[in-house]
Amino acid sequence: MDTSDIRERALGAIGAAADAAALDQVRVEFLGKKGELTALLKSLGSLAPDERPAAGAAINATKEALSGAIDDKKRAIENEQLADELSADTVDITLPGRPRGVGSLHPVTQTLRRIEEILTVAGYEVVAGPEIEDDYHNFEALNIPAHHPARAMHDTLYLDNGLLLRTHTSPVQVRTMENREPPIRIICPGRVYRKDDVDATHSPMFHQVEGLVIDEGVSFADLKGTVVDFVRRFFEKDLGVRFRPSYFPFTEPSAEVDAQCVHCSGKGCRVCSGTGWLEVMGCGMVHPNVLAMSGIDPERYTGFAWGFGADRLATLYFGIDDMRNLFENELRFLGQFA
Ligand code: FA5
Ligand code: MG
Repeated sequence: MDTSDIRERALGAIGAAADAAALDQVRVEFLGKKGELTALLKSLGSLAPDERPAAGAAINATKEALSGAIDDKKRAIENEQLADELSADTVDITLPGRPRGVGSLHPVTQTLRRIEEILTVAGYEVVAGPEIEDDYHNFEALNIPAHHPARAMHDTLYLDNGLLLRTHTSPVQVRTMENREPPIRIICPGRVYRKDDVDATHSPMFHQVEGLVIDEGVSFADLKGTVVDFVRRFFEKDLGVRFRPSYFPFTEPSAEVDAQCVHCSGKGCRVCSGTGWLEVMGCGMVHPNVLAMSGIDPERYTGFAWGFGADRLATLYFGIDDMRNLFENELRFLGQFA
């Protein structure tokens, strides 16, 4: 039996099938229960018995050939479809991503951590004290009795219960001396509060870092060396440092420390109001009255203390021209210093 006509037509139809549905149509047409090849098989019975084997073999061979061709075509159609889907689905890898915000430390926090790092390496221990203080620790024990004019320098915020918000970190000096024996070598970073009006260099809440060293034979030269070394390490520059005589009731002698302007290196610019210098801290030798009030023998021990404004140091270090920027919580601004 000659099946070449069916085979050729079927192969042509398979080749022409554009998709899986069309291909299945072809399969049904030729190989299905009512398909042409099936009909041929059924007609075998009408052939002479000696013709049947050869005819059957020819039909089966055709059937197999067509099944194979259909399978091949099916795979080809699937591959083509996959390629189409992939190309329709391309990811544009040149599109900028949508970044997730990554938090960063506040410039003041960074500043406090740098200060702590510089000074702990130098052998200082970090201690903390309460932000709600009593009059004794904030003033009295620091040689500032009631009605002392120095109280007017601290615009104090009082609470209804007679306590107050500490106006500086110096009360932590007192609390430390009350509880420890010399040698003492501590720093105290923390928040302090004053009824100051807000401007480019003042905030009603700000941060100080107190330093206190007490031992036998501690001198003003030790204070100078410590402060100069600290300022240079902090600003990462070999800046000039000068000591101006000043007054604090709890230190004698007292000084205020200026560093050469970090922006113009002393030439004079807008940041330093043309003077070439920036005030960075107050300091001095601990007053004998203060030592004695906290139970340390002023005949045997001497010491020095300092207190600087960490927010001022932060603005100088990062080149921020207005302290208010630190406290307005504008994340786009603060994020610049990450
Ligand atoms: C004191 O508070 C002393 N307790 C410092 C001290 C400690 C002297 C130990 C001697 C020994 P003064 O009031 O000057 O001093 O403040 C110290 C620093 O705090 C200032 O130099 C300044 O940097 C910062 N500061 C003061 N007021 C404000 C404010 N309103 N906002 C931001 N920073 C301020
Ligand atoms: Mg002041």
